[in-house]
Amino acid sequence: PRRILSGIQASGALHLGNYLGALKRFVELQDQGAPVYVFVADMHAITVWQDPAKLTAQTREIAAAYLASGLDPEKATIFPQSAVRAHAELAWIFNCVARLGWLDRMTQFKEKSGKHKERSSVGLYTYPVLQAADILLYKATEVPVGEDQKQHLELTRDIAAKFNNDFGVPGFFPVPEPIIQGPATRVMSLRDGAAKMSKSDPSDNSRINLTDDADTIASKIKKAKTDPEPLPETLEGLNERPEAKNLVAIYAALAGLTREQVIAQFGGQGFGAFKPALADLAVSSLAPVTAEMRRLIDDPAEIDRVLKAGAERAAEVADPVVDEVKKIVGFWRA
Ligand code: TYM
Repeated sequence: PRRILSGIQASGALHLGNYLGALKRFVELQDQGAPVYVFVADMHAITVWQDPAKLTAQTREIAAAYLASGLDPEKATIFPQSAVRAHAELAWIFNCVARLGWLDRMTQFKEKSGKHKERSSVGLYTYPVLQAADILLYKATEVPVGEDQKQHLELTRDIAAKFNNDFGVPGFFPVPEPIIQGPATRVMSLRDGAAKMSKSDPSDNSRINLTDDADTIASKIKKAKTDPEPLPETLEGLNERPEAKNLVAIYAALAGLTREQVIAQFGGQGFGAFKPALADLAVSSLAPVTAEMRRLIDDPAEIDRVLKAGAERAAEVADPVVDEVKKIVGFWRA
């Protein structure tokens, strides 16, 4: 059976990359009728310092984004990662399955730890092992994510295979498929077509935040870096034009079109025409999401109800799996 699972870190402001690369995709998969498990990765968030006074609000904000984007708590199980104890339990066991050499290759750790590896938390290093636990605990078959999570998904597959093999339980953990699809799996910065849109970019003009108002969104798109040429008549014409390529991809993802269709519509036109069309589309697509997020955050009772019920439902799936794992590993059980 299909089981879709994904998560977003509770580490502050969501941007258009998260929306197009992840959130919008979760809703599409939900609407195909497969069971969807989505959580707020608060345990991953604390691998770098999070102010305890803000973490709860950040968790609710991601939950609000899930609901506002169109996830239906009747169909999707929405929960905080830390509220389901099995995540931490399975992560420990996987820490003993994963090899140091595998983690040493993780590029995200290298990027995030920067020049100060020895001052990074141990949690930041073992972050992808917790991610593998998140996924395999639900025996997920499909994991929709942006391009930047590809390596973590490969590690998850390696951990599943090694666990099944080491303990002689073939097929116990299904080897999950990453779902990295659609026109916007890697949304780039609006200021630099070679850098990923990211919340850690010091320039706020580099990204569109889900909390930006209409004027801010329009002005960021207007200021977006481009080259002086009009849009090409063919998709190949976007090669070597990273900024143009990015704006076309964003338009396509927001409109639910392919990039070919966007080029068919705007090929030959300059950015003077394309940017205002993109700004209108971005504002009209994001405004309802933003407004609904604000409404939910203003009265968190509804969010809290969803998270509590979600955590209970998630635990019903996760607890028996971790129990079986303990038995497989040989832990004493009553
Ligand atoms: P996080 O919180 O950094 O990002 C959430 C999702 O947004 C995607 N994303 C992007 N997609 C397109 N363009 C971008 N510029 C862009 N930036 C971010 C990410 O790929 C991700 O899908 N490790 C995960 C959270 C996680 C998780 C999991 C995901 C924890 N456990 C289990 C899947 C399954 C992360 O840091 O995502």
